[in-house]
Amino acid sequence: MDAVECAAKWFQTSQKVAVITGAGISTESGIPDFRSGEGLYNEETEQGIPMEDVLSWSFFSEHPREFYRLFNEKLLFPDARPNTGHFFLKRLEDAGHDVTIITQNIDGLHQKAGSTRVLELHGNAGKIITEYGSEKSLDEAVRDEKEMRVDGEWARPAITLYGEALDRKVLQESVQAISEADILLVMGTSLNVYPAAGLIFEYNGNRSVLVNREGTPLSDGFACVFSRPIGEWVEEVQQYLDADQHTSDRNE
Ligand code: OAD
Repeated sequence: MDAVECAAKWFQTSQKVAVITGAGISTESGIPDFRSGEGLYNEETEQGIPMEDVLSWSFFSEHPREFYRLFNEKLLFPDARPNTGHFFLKRLEDAGHDVTIITQNIDGLHQKAGSTRVLELHGNAGKIITEYGSEKSLDEAVRDEKEMRVDGEWARPAITLYGEALDRKVLQESVQAISEADILLVMGTSLNVYPAAGLIFEYNGNRSVLVNREGTPLSDGFACVFSRPIGEWVEEVQQYLDADQHTSDRNE
């Protein structure tokens, strides 16, 4: 049995599937990741400010105009559509697995693909939080160059910036889903950013699968590593799953 077939069998025989995703799952939808060669952190911004600094609470509070200019230009992709990777996870759910997606992405593409249990560790760029804590859609905001308001109330993008804590409830639910999972699938993340990366240590089983084009500092801990494009890998796994489904349909 080859490695892809083995991973496919693991999916078939696992009820609880926990998935951790990162920016690499959305590159095939045209959204750049952060740390690859063409990633946002390797891009020079006009003023020479590293994007990693822009995405911090201190930069946001001190330079809101510049923050919003780069936020609109580099982080908002309202027209992006989910790709094979996102739809694969939705299909697992449709096939009857309990799938929990724990994503570092702020693009909302898992929900657009139809996945129902998505825990967003770093928030969602399509949402905003008002001064008094209500969550609204970005479309409801009245925006100018350096500020957003809803019904006169100050608001900000509902994303986690460097220097800010992650939502405690989302983190707790992520830990629970991973610790109870039969299989852990990690897709498209360099596993460089904590606490997200550290969540892999909550997994208690021996079916951990990493699909990432490049190596990561934590790759050695996985039972199975695929250093390939997600779309390509998904198509192969899906072929095994479909072939098996076809055989069992014929035998019924
Ligand atoms: P990174 O850019 O650090 O890592 C993305 C990984 O995906 C890289 O290792 C790529 O090799 C891989 N990759 C890209 N396209 C791929 C494809 N089609 N198939 C397979 N692999 C692919 O992104 P994250 O790990 O998500 O946080 O970054 C984590 C956090 O760092 C982000 O959520 C963001 C950033 O700072 C905040 O803004 C708070």
